[in-house]
Amino acid sequence: MILQRTNLPNINQISDEMSHVLGDYDTTEIRRFFVYYQQCQAGAKEFGTKLENLDSEFEMLENHNPIHHMETRMKSPRSLLRKLTKKGLDFTFDDIKDNIFDIAGIRVITNYLDDIETVENALTKQSDVTLLKRKDYISNPKPSGYRSLHLVVSVPVFQASGPITTPVEIQLRTVGMDMWASLEHKLRYKTDVDKQKVEQFGDELKGYSTELNQIETHMQGIFNNLQEK
Ligand code: GTP
Ligand code: MG
Repeated sequence: MILQRTNLPNINQISDEMSHVLGDYDTTEIRRFFVYYQQCQAGAKEFGTKLENLDSEFEMLENHNPIHHMETRMKSPRSLLRKLTKKGLDFTFDDIKDNIFDIAGIRVITNYLDDIETVENALTKQSDVTLLKRKDYISNPKPSGYRSLHLVVSVPVFQASGPITTPVEIQLRTVGMDMWASLEHKLRYKTDVDKQKVEQFGDELKGYSTELNQIETHMQGIFNNLQEK
């Protein structure tokens, strides 16, 4: 029994609909995109399982869960189109495959700072995992104050037609970094916030990013002390 269906559109139905609306429209690219989209989703599921298993292992051996929670999302075709346009790219399979690595994304929210490195190491050293990109916005926070570790990783997925590998973007951040990023995202992406407020709150939030980092560093110290046998 499949408990959670992913509700992906049927590819023939989409092609039919597109041809209906657009006449002689060549649906090859759309078809290739949706095949790739499902493959990326399969990759995200593989990584979701890997991460859950790692967390269970740490729970059993160390009596500690490095992962607080995870969020998985697939980029909507609309948001993909927006990103392609912003980068001056076309909605073609090749442009997507060569330039967009976050069609499937997993956000891993960890309990403590050190858990980020723990999860990264345990995941990337697995023999079937390839690290494609790594951006460390924890050692080098963005000017906004944004902190997170961004990885693009791939894993083989066994399709009916054979094995394929697809990229998945994994963002690792602590509970504190996540709380910060959620509010900051609201400030930047809500278009109706006036400019002066954006600047004022932006400065304030930048300060909080540093403060939260200090607090999380101290809390890590307390946690380490309590873990000592
Ligand atoms: P893309 O190809 O556009 O993804 O470029 P990139 O991978 O270089 O982008 P980046 O590494 O900046 O990561 C993009 C994602 O990180 C965004 O979708 C956000 O989720 C997150 N992010 C990056 N910078 C910020 C920031 O300043 N504030 C917040 N709240 N989130 C950010
Ligand atoms: Mg990205």
